Amino acid sequence: MSDIKFSFVDEIGVFSSFEERVEKNLPMLETAIKGEERYKSSLGWHKVSKWAGEEWLEKYEALAAKVQNEADCLVVIGIGGSNQAARAVYEGLSGKSNVEIIWAGNTISPDSVSKVLSSLENKKNIWVDCIAKNFETLEPGIAFRVIRDVLRERYKEDYASHVIVTFTEDTKSWKMAQEKGYNLLPFPSDIGGRYTALSPIGLFPLAVAGLDIRAMAKGAENMEKKLKSDFSTSNIALRYATARTELYKNGKSVELLSYFEPRFFRFAKWWKQLFGESEGKDNKGLLPMDTSYSEDLHSLGQFVQDGSPMLFETFLNIETPDASYVLHDDDVDDGFSYLNGKDFRDINKAAYKATLKAHSRRFPCLVLDIEKLDEEAYGSLFYFFQFACYVSCNITGVNPFDQNGVEAYKCDMFQLLGK
Ligand code: PA5
Repeated sequence: MSDIKFSFVDEIGVFSSFEERVEKNLPMLETAIKGEERYKSSLGWHKVSKWAGEEWLEKYEALAAKVQNEADCLVVIGIGGSNQAARAVYEGLSGKSNVEIIWAGNTISPDSVSKVLSSLENKKNIWVDCIAKNFETLEPGIAFRVIRDVLRERYKEDYASHVIVTFTEDTKSWKMAQEKGYNLLPFPSDIGGRYTALSPIGLFPLAVAGLDIRAMAKGAENMEKKLKSDFSTSNIALRYATARTELYKNGKSVELLSYFEPRFFRFAKWWKQLFGESEGKDNKGLLPMDTSYSEDLHSLGQFVQDGSPMLFETFLNIETPDASYVLHDDDVDDGFSYLNGKDFRDINKAAYKATLKAHSRRFPCLVLDIEKLDEEAYGSLFYFFQFACYVSCNITGVNPFDQNGVEAYKCDMFQLLGK
């Protein structure tokens, strides 16, 4: 089983009454375990089997097998919650099938569009999956147009058979897709984008990439069982949510997700959206940011150790990395002989331990340990953070599932663009 362990290092004694605070927050855990009636239309993720149960997994795998048989490339069009989870796993574990995933529809940059188009030139057979909850989002909407042009040029009338859309059922766009003869996958109507990792949004592209989506579902289901069955102060989601919200109440305004494994870069983007969009409202919320160490110790490390005391860190630590490389003896007197015979694993671990020690002299450091980074671990992490985010929002008293703030710039943009 892929488990997550939560702990913290509190050298300066901020958490002196931590256990009391956790106990006080137990009702917020209870609410999250039960799932509230008022959020019924957003809780489709709460029970993993709803969108990642056997029946669904078979559907995703069957369509994925078809794509693998025919294509050497799948263009996944989507933005925000419609792309981040799948991309996090794809970039963290790398694809394992003959199909390369190309990500589009997450930017309006003409240079990026042109890069996507050039990368398609040498592809033998292209398929596309356009993912959008409301097919009104500008970025995926116009990217889909551009890719349709490419497909029409190549496959003429048959282009529709290369198209999958993941849209909300019974909407205008769903009906349009049916009329055009596209392949259809449902976007869960009971889940908002950033909570869709364990649904067709996160799982289907990964099945095409040859990743083990059953292991992901298993990791998530195990985490669901663990969190929902532990109604006590030892519940790790409650402990993490309490620690971060306590630090917020103590004046911290930034939570840095820090990791010594750069494979977490895209995962951190998913995490930032989850917490930023869920918690950042009503003039409240921690700003979620990330640092990729050891690289960022040579840039932001100065600020973290010595700058404005606005932040604290949550370390995402992998106990056993996949690879290992031992540094050999060398006849060049380069000053690094003290590392002869040491494994990069141990050197990285030493840098991690030292950073934890140094940073915890400034603020409490929260730690999430996972044994190894694989599909099961990703499933477990996705569920853990989604659930912990729900608990955190209950503690701070905000709606975890809306995002009204993102509409403001859209009104101005649509006016400029003449919508
Ligand atoms: O969490 C959310 O619901 C949003 O961030 C969406 O994921 C994002 O805006 C993309 O929306 P859509 O899938 O409708 O294009």
